[in-house]
Amino acid sequence: MNKYLVIGNPIEHSLSPLLHNYWFKKYGILDSIYEKRKVDKKDLKEIVESVKKGDIKGVNVTVPFKSEILNYIDSFPNEVQKTKSVNTLIKENDKVVGYNTDQGGFEISLSVNNWNKKNKKILILGAGGVAPSILSSFIKKDGASKVYLCNRTRNKAEELKKHWDAAADSCGMLKNTIEVVDWEKKIELCDLVINTTSVGLSVDENINFDFDHYDNNKNVLFYDLIYNPKETNFLKNAKQRGNKIMNGKLMFLWQAQLAFKMWTGVSPEINDEVINLLS
Ligand code: ATR
Repeated sequence: MNKYLVIGNPIEHSLSPLLHNYWFKKYGILDSIYEKRKVDKKDLKEIVESVKKGDIKGVNVTVPFKSEILNYIDSFPNEVQKTKSVNTLIKENDKVVGYNTDQGGFEISLSVNNWNKKNKKILILGAGGVAPSILSSFIKKDGASKVYLCNRTRNKAEELKKHWDAAADSCGMLKNTIEVVDWEKKIELCDLVINTTSVGLSVDENINFDFDHYDNNKNVLFYDLIYNPKETNFLKNAKQRGNKIMNGKLMFLWQAQLAFKMWTGVSPEINDEVINLLS
């Protein structure tokens, strides 16, 4: 039996086993099973060793270990070095390699919605673990014209900007694309406002965002990476004001699709059936 795992802490909420096991069944990959496991930092080394020995065929890594896992794996591609985030492990030529499919999943989720980043203005709320994977989508050749970055703890946003400014030449980003702004500061109207913070995971939580000048801007997309609950207060507010909204479900599905393909060679279809599976 080929064994796959998603590891994190907490992990109860993860829908990855439901999704991957559905795809194993759908595509007749009947010798495979995908489970979730709550782990601590001290378990990471052993998990990576199990992948190396072949006892575990593939692993998804989720919060809060996406960065920590880098210390235990053998190699990772360049974009992982930039985002410092790994969510997928696979054994390649006796080495355990870590990939970041969140980044690709995020980009596909926008492109399937016909959203093009070229010359757009983006506001990213939050500078936590997932923010670099989001930021990296916009700061490349033919990317956004401006990325405002705003975090409750401002210096984390400053650090992120510094890190990416240093990599500017290698990703084709124009200097000064990223600007750190204070949470309360009113900035120009953006085309896309993304919540990458954890605010909204509990239904009654409210992000402290001033929507005033976003009234009835049908071309503005509000994107919350959270998909459970389906509509956070951030999205409810944006919708009530006449803006477009999107939650993190498609990003979740596409990052899973990319991982599944790496492990099995099969590229599962993302259709209404699979979208509904998670609702
Ligand atoms: P980590 O930073 O450890 O990677 P995370 O869950 O990936 O954790 O990130 C949490 C994000 O949500 C951070 O941007 C955090 O802001 P701080 O850096 O200031 O902690 C943000 N966040 C969490 N609770 C918040 C709140 N009540 N208001 C605003 N931002 C919040």
